[in-house]
Amino acid sequence: MWFTKPKFAANDLNMKKYFLLLIILISFLGKTIAEEGMWLPQLLQSLNEKQMKKMGMKINASDIYNISKGSLKDAIVSFGGFCTAEVISDQGLLLTNHHCGFDAIQNHSSIQNNYIRDGFWSYNKDQELRNDGLFATFIIRIDDVTASVLKDVNARMSEKERQSAVDKNIAALRTSTKKETYQDLIVRPFFESNKYYLFVTETYRDVRLVGAPPSSIGNYGKDTDNWMWPRHTGDFSMFRIYAGKDNKPAAYSPENVPYKPKRSLSISLDGVKEGDFTMVFGFPGRTNEYLHSSAIEQIVNMSDPAKIAIRTKALNVIDGFMRRDEEIKIQYAAKYASISNAWKKWQGEVLGLTKTNAVAKRKEMEASFEKIVLQKPEFNIAYMNLLKDLKQAYTDIEPYAYARDYYTEIFPRIEILGFAGQLNSLVNALEKNGEAGYNTAKDKTLASLEELFKEYNTTVDQKLFESLMEMYVSGQKDVNVSPLLKDMLKQNGNSYANAAASLYTKTKLGSLASIKTLLTGNAKDVCDAIKADPAFQLSMDMQKTYSSNVSIKLNELQAVINQLQRTYMQAQMDVFTQKAFYPDANSTLRVTYGNVKPYQPRDAVKFDFYSYMDGVMEKYKPGDYEFDLPQKLIDLYKKKDFGRYGVNGRQPVCFIAANHTTGGNSGSPALDANGNLIGLNFDRVWEGTMSDINYDPTICRNIMVDIRYVLFIVDKYAEAKNIISELKLVSKKTR
Ligand code: ARG
Ligand code: ASP
Repeated sequence: MWFTKPKFAANDLNMKKYFLLLIILISFLGKTIAEEGMWLPQLLQSLNEKQMKKMGMKINASDIYNISKGSLKDAIVSFGGFCTAEVISDQGLLLTNHHCGFDAIQNHSSIQNNYIRDGFWSYNKDQELRNDGLFATFIIRIDDVTASVLKDVNARMSEKERQSAVDKNIAALRTSTKKETYQDLIVRPFFESNKYYLFVTETYRDVRLVGAPPSSIGNYGKDTDNWMWPRHTGDFSMFRIYAGKDNKPAAYSPENVPYKPKRSLSISLDGVKEGDFTMVFGFPGRTNEYLHSSAIEQIVNMSDPAKIAIRTKALNVIDGFMRRDEEIKIQYAAKYASISNAWKKWQGEVLGLTKTNAVAKRKEMEASFEKIVLQKPEFNIAYMNLLKDLKQAYTDIEPYAYARDYYTEIFPRIEILGFAGQLNSLVNALEKNGEAGYNTAKDKTLASLEELFKEYNTTVDQKLFESLMEMYVSGQKDVNVSPLLKDMLKQNGNSYANAAASLYTKTKLGSLASIKTLLTGNAKDVCDAIKADPAFQLSMDMQKTYSSNVSIKLNELQAVINQLQRTYMQAQMDVFTQKAFYPDANSTLRVTYGNVKPYQPRDAVKFDFYSYMDGVMEKYKPGDYEFDLPQKLIDLYKKKDFGRYGVNGRQPVCFIAANHTTGGNSGSPALDANGNLIGLNFDRVWEGTMSDINYDPTICRNIMVDIRYVLFIVDKYAEAKNIISELKLVSKKTR
């Protein structure tokens, strides 16, 4: 209030004094922190602790990140590099999302043991299932290594020179940094490569499946409810880290023992109420919070709509088949979910960016940036043309970015083109490494094709070809279209259906059996036959057309943008000195915090912040693909048999809060003011998915499953008392 009501008369000298005083006061109080951010755990103490406490946190920053004693960070792992998980018992038990564990659950499933449909629970450790390739990575320490990485780097260097100096310095750093033999070192750029941090990590590779609910609980509401609030999904699964006898990382062995963590999370049974402090600790993947307004305009007007349109067509094709054919439904379920996940998110993103006037707001920010730059001679020289150059760079890249979106959305959807890519690795192996190289490559390629064909149907693929190639040709400039495809069309009377039918009849790439036949014989003959296949030729021609007409220029222009964005990032930090900046997400460990809050998505609509099992039942549709429920769950609900996990006769299911999260934060723990586990992050609300580009505290909310719903399912539904007995449950209330 003291800011808006100055006692001074507005004479110049007094104003100056006043502002000077203000600046001194602000710097004394610390930087201002917006209601957003994915903060670096090692900087919480200096940057965020004060605000976190003001918002309700009861613990200290050193309880969250501490390298000399066990802290909360020692309970958080990167789960397979794509999600987050947390240690919830002193025997290495991990909690993550159902959709994060999905692959592992699916790999163990069969017609007889359909763990996706029925769930899986181990009632003793012998029943836990190994998962080759899955890993859990702990962060031991984070060091600022900017000075070493940017040693001898200067502004006159070309991007290439800069990169090679940086690479050299990182290599030197890797040899000079002390670490244990079982540890790894990772150096990552932050703030658009203005800063670098080094991570000492420990990766455990024996991670076993402990439990998962049926997907009718773990993925309740599927695509219809995805990215939506109110939500009623029990999106969780459980794993366990195993270690060697010395508790250090070890490859899978039946001799391995449950990992003893430095720290495991205590679980609170008390839930949260409106306004309560929450924080989410995990590995967010990628955000772009510091873009120029023209980049946001491009996303809203060009990139997202193009990608959405292509995916709409692909999803319509796949959905048509899935509805008619039970086998295709099973084969394409995971693919459909993954295509539709981003498709739906982008729609929410466009909606949110438009609704919150993100472009206009960014332009306002740019205007105040420019004003300050013009006032200060030192900024004037360095930053005067920056915004103009950025705008130009985004204008220059636009046609190439559009062609990239077209190519990267269409090419991978037509899987036969990808099979051709796999076979091309055999051709390359023979050329580079002779027959021996070819033979090793052949084994690998066949193994990966075996996997891909399990979830492939050539009729679906042919229909995708037909409908997506039409977009590929009509949706973009003629120069970007493969000449070979144009020929094919001409030969088929310009009919996409005929061209597709002819190609899928002639090619040997449409089934695993015909590929296997194609691959019999000596290496040279096989490679000649591969090269003669029409689908192979088309795939190569599309790739060649793209790389010569688009990607070369695209990479050049992207390098210009990268350099400008790097300068712009530094410039924003130099110009807005009172603002605390957080780096964009880059799959490294971050903390985000915010209060439990309802939100108002549109006029006259207000969403509450808690959902209950009553809502699960309201959505129940017997026999439905998305909203069916297991009978046992219905019975427990009818009996109100919620045990200590219910509140006043109701079972809480999910809740929302204003935590700034993104993809990769799935499986992250939601912690209360005391650092106790209260929920499991798994999604964001529809109106707020634009938080990756422009976080808006009025409508951005993350969605978490209440830990009491997780415990209710494990205890009452699965009756896995063995799991419950491992946990540290805390409560202020008597239950
Ligand atoms: N939208 C969430 C995330 O981006 C959850 C996705 C999993 N669920 C689904 N129905 N596809 O990953
Ligand atoms: N569902 C996302 C994930 O899998 C989380 C999000 O994007 O909010 O990481």
